[in-house]
Amino acid sequence: MTTKAPWDDGPLCYGGDWNPEQWPPEVWREDVALMRAAGVNLVTVGVFAWSRLEPEPGRHTLDWLDDVLDLLHANGIRAALATPTASPPPWFSLRHPDALPVTADGVRLTHGSRDTYCAAAPAYRDAARSIAEVLAARYAHHPALALWHVHNEYGTTCHCPHTEAAFRRWLATRYGDLDALNDAWVTSFWSQHYSDWAQVGTPRATQYLANPGQLLDFRRFWSDTLLSAYTEQRDLLRAANPAVPVTTNYVLGDWVPVDHARWAREVDLVAVDHYPSATGAGAEEQTAFAADLARGWARHGSGWPWLLMESAPNQIHTAGRMHTKEPGRMTRHSLAHVARGSAGVMFFQWRAPAGGAERFHSAVVSHAGADSRVFREATDLGAALARLAGTAPGRVEAAVAIAYDAASGWALRHPGMPRDGLDHPGEAAAAHRALWHAGVTADVVPPGAPLDGCRLLVLPALYLASDATVDWVRRHVHAGGHLLVTWLSGVADEHGRVRLGGYPGAYRDLLGVRVEEFHPLADDEHVPLSGGGTGRIWSETVHPAGAETVSAYAGGVLDGRPAITRHRVGDAYAWYVSTRPDDDTYRHLLTEAAGLAGVTPTCPGAAPGVEAVRRDDGLLYLLNHTDEPQRVPAAGCEVLTGATVDGVVTVAPGGVAVVREEVP
Ligand code: GLA
Repeated sequence: MTTKAPWDDGPLCYGGDWNPEQWPPEVWREDVALMRAAGVNLVTVGVFAWSRLEPEPGRHTLDWLDDVLDLLHANGIRAALATPTASPPPWFSLRHPDALPVTADGVRLTHGSRDTYCAAAPAYRDAARSIAEVLAARYAHHPALALWHVHNEYGTTCHCPHTEAAFRRWLATRYGDLDALNDAWVTSFWSQHYSDWAQVGTPRATQYLANPGQLLDFRRFWSDTLLSAYTEQRDLLRAANPAVPVTTNYVLGDWVPVDHARWAREVDLVAVDHYPSATGAGAEEQTAFAADLARGWARHGSGWPWLLMESAPNQIHTAGRMHTKEPGRMTRHSLAHVARGSAGVMFFQWRAPAGGAERFHSAVVSHAGADSRVFREATDLGAALARLAGTAPGRVEAAVAIAYDAASGWALRHPGMPRDGLDHPGEAAAAHRALWHAGVTADVVPPGAPLDGCRLLVLPALYLASDATVDWVRRHVHAGGHLLVTWLSGVADEHGRVRLGGYPGAYRDLLGVRVEEFHPLADDEHVPLSGGGTGRIWSETVHPAGAETVSAYAGGVLDGRPAITRHRVGDAYAWYVSTRPDDDTYRHLLTEAAGLAGVTPTCPGAAPGVEAVRRDDGLLYLLNHTDEPQRVPAAGCEVLTGATVDGVVTVAPGGVAVVREEVP
């Protein structure tokens, strides 16, 4: 039972990772004064402080943390107190070499970075529990404690003997016996049949392609193993004081072997870290997508709201070079997360360290100190968030849902697929981006989530379809919901075994099509479409079986054959899209599909480049991503300035307006 979460008090959370262990106490006092000036009310403390908390096995030095928490409390700032288990100290690695992780190539890693442990190794788990217990015993009732922040960005894997044994146990639980495992992994192929559990290993380096079922289950196994590492810490923290919520910060990316939707049922608050890789307009699209993902996990897991636990106050680390955020971008992106349901804004990090591997990562207090643009912008953001106090419980209104499934992403990464680079998260993001540009707000939901209020469900390369998923989709359509399915969705069952009889085996009848052959396209290939625009990445031989053709391939081997179809099911349409339309075509297509489902843009009067998010608490967020002032029809009160809005609000270039709309 949890109570009094930080966001329940009214103010939105504001702060970030603070590392007092890197600084002398006089800097702590300066930091806290600066935090107060910036309006900070929550800081994550102790994330990587294990060697400072336990310099030798069993010898704990907590006095400094006592002082830090007391100092925060005295200044009205609350703590998301972290367990430091993402970075065991050197003594741990020397003492327990068997707990150092082994790569798929059989290389045992050594100490020198972070995250260098095997989460299936008993010694690591014991040590992690024991340091968490020490913190729980000392701080569970500290008045500064608002939230437990377990670990940091779970996502590591390993192939050591401990892992192998744990993987076998996990498989035995999942399948019961070897026959079922052989069946699921189709081990009749390439003489892989297992006759004894001792033969089953982790997917280490192989001569040629590894078994796809084994790879998929290995990721599921890691998701469950890491989850158990989290829940055992959570349970002991909860036992120490059930009133304090517990969470862990999610790292996004389909390389992460974590099924965040499933984890959302085990955290008291979904907390995500978000660092867009794009530096131009793509960054706003990525921000909206990440926020809607988090929102979906929260809505169908821990409950409302969710929290942006880490973001960059300034520099974005992209491949090859760092990109400095231009003025306004940090505030606009932060408020984009809040618009989409974040209970606040947290940064990595508060103060930039002088050394260490991430010395050039962005910070609110940069190497230049507080006399800086970034600090002034952070202070302004703190004031804006204060104006939005009490709005965390507001819910976003959306009538389109995009299905997102971690396992489908993992399955498509198998190198034996018909094309490299197949990417379910990327396709989900592409659908979301098309809707974003159409001004239509979308939910992103895990398969099986309740679809009340959803008029159009989109399945973007949702490769895996268990019988339960198929049933979920059918129920939506038979209840009158519209459906749009893109290529590669429903091709395989939950083990990655192809559903036979023509693609997409799971949804052929709903879609009124049968796909006979795949024709993957080269990276630089485009196929013209008769309805306008082009298709990329993928194409297929589609035979209509009840569906009408909306757009056909125009040229190439598929000339004249259907590319996009729709099938009437009751009063609804079930669309099939057998290629990836270019962005404009995809936007038009989704606008039409949404329109036929009765879904219109959130704010039809907003110009392109103005993002509008409407919520059930009466707030309309308007984010102007353009370089021009934008006039948007609205009526009510602008919350950030207090100005009355009488028909039109002007949103500054790169700025944000939040209108509390008048109920007509
Ligand atoms: C992640 C981690 C942080 C830090 C930042 C750097 O989100 O959780 O510890 O490494 O990235 O951007």
